[in-house]
Amino acid sequence: SSIPVLTIDGPGGAGKGTISRLIAERLGWHLLDSGCLYRLTALAALRKNVALDDEAMLAQLATGLDVEFRVAGAVTAVLLEGDEVGQEIRTEKVGDCASRVAALPAVRTALLQRQRDFRLSPGLVADGRDMGTVVFTDATLKIFLTASAEERARRRYLQLREAGVDASLSSLLREIQARDARDTQRSVAPLVAADDAIELDTTSLSIPEVVDQLEELLAQKG
Ligand code: C5P
Repeated sequence: SSIPVLTIDGPGGAGKGTISRLIAERLGWHLLDSGCLYRLTALAALRKNVALDDEAMLAQLATGLDVEFRVAGAVTAVLLEGDEVGQEIRTEKVGDCASRVAALPAVRTALLQRQRDFRLSPGLVADGRDMGTVVFTDATLKIFLTASAEERARRRYLQLREAGVDASLSSLLREIQARDARDTQRSVAPLVAADDAIELDTTSLSIPEVVDQLEELLAQKG
């Protein structure tokens, strides 16, 4: 495909979501939050009482996922079978189930075409773990966004506090480390930088600094 794609992969909490949204807005490109599809599959499984190790059933759920993304300005409503679930899919519980479901090869295969369908003119910013290594191997620019686990825990802590949620920094750090271990050690599509990805460590960078750098890197490709 000649439609440009910018892939942004990396561990949870590195700022991929925020950065991807901002750069997509700035470029006027479409946005794929691939984690959202894994979260929706997990939520559908929880709602239908499907066991999280029933690979065949989960793949079937992923294939038939009835989702709709309704873009309204800066916010995108996420609907699962007509229900707004934008808040619910962001919970730790659903995130944890998503990372289990995402370890199953049949589920990943089931979601492959759905992800590729997001590649529409004038371009796509794709955020996830395997955007550059599996889903869009021919991407225009591949970024691997990282930050230290401590910094990612700190960012999450501040985010939760701002939202009025009680949290402990040390337990957030433990959760982040557990999620990292699961995402990097799984046998299918493990979290790893593509050979041709550019690694960007955001530990001491601000959000606008990262967005500026990405725009510059993309301009060099064009
Ligand atoms: O990015 P987010 O935290 O929303 O992703 C939820 C989970 O989905 C991750 O922990 C990861 O296990 C999985 N995931 C994945 N491949 C992607 C995106 C997310 O395996 N491309």
